[in-house]
Amino acid sequence: MTAPRKPILAGNWKMNHGPSQAARFFADFLNLAEPGDDRTIAFFPPAISFAAAREALQGRPDVRLGVQNVYWEESGAFTGELSVGMAKDAGAELVLVGHSERRHVFGETSEETARKVRAVLDAGLVPVLCVGETIDERRAERAEAVVAEQLAPVLEIVRADEVGELVIAYEPVWAIGTGVTATPDDARTMHAAVRERLRAAYGAEAADAVPILYGGSVKPDNAAELMSQPGVDGVLVGGASLDAAGFARIVKAAG
Ligand code: PGA
Repeated sequence: MTAPRKPILAGNWKMNHGPSQAARFFADFLNLAEPGDDRTIAFFPPAISFAAAREALQGRPDVRLGVQNVYWEESGAFTGELSVGMAKDAGAELVLVGHSERRHVFGETSEETARKVRAVLDAGLVPVLCVGETIDERRAERAEAVVAEQLAPVLEIVRADEVGELVIAYEPVWAIGTGVTATPDDARTMHAAVRERLRAAYGAEAADAVPILYGGSVKPDNAAELMSQPGVDGVLVGGASLDAAGFARIVKAAG
C-alpha cells in the first residue's frame, strides 16, 4: 500500500537572484502563495542570498530553504566550497545533490554525489538527489540504464532505515532550460523505473516513502499535467521559479 506523499514544489534559482532580488521575490511570492500544510514548498537560492531569503521567510515555516551544493568535508582548506554543517547552521533543511549542471558543467561523478548524499544524511538534512540522462543517451535507449547507474552508488550507501529522508528528482538533461519538457508518459515511465530500483533495494514500504520529483522546463502551463501523472510527486523548477507570480501558479497547480 503506497503511503500518500505530499506534493513538493521546489525552486532551484541556480546562479540567479542576489540578496536584494531574493528579498523582493519573497515580498511578492508570499502574498501570492497562502500558507498551507498540504504541500511542501522549497527554494534553493544561491548561498550568498540564503540569509536574505531566510529573513524574508520569518513567519512562513511552510516554505523551506536549501542549498544548491555542498562539499562532504566538515571544514578546511576547500576554497569556494560549503559544508553541510554550515548550511545547517544557516537554516538549510535540504541540499540539492548531483544536479545536472554539477555533473555536466563541473564534472561531478556519481561517486562524489554519493559521498555528498552521505554527508547530508549524516547531518540530518534532506538530500534532493538529481538524476537524468542526456539526449544522446535517450536516443541510444540508455535512459533507464544511465539513471540506474547514477542511482547505484547512492543506494549502496543509504540504509533502508534512512531512505525515507531522501528525495529524488528525475531531470532529463535535454529538458533542463530548453523549453522542451518530457512528455507525461516519459516522466511516468522513468518515475516507475526509479521506484522499482528503490523497491528492489529497500522493499516496497521503505521505497514508497521516497518522493520522486520531475524537473526540466516545468512551467505554470504544464505543471498540473505533469503532477497528475501517477508517481510524479512534485516538481523541481529552474527558470520558472525565478518569477514570483509564475511559481505561485505552479504551487497552485499542485491542487
Ligand atoms: P528548468 O531547470 O526548469 O529551467 O528547466 C530545472 C532544473 O535544472 O532544476
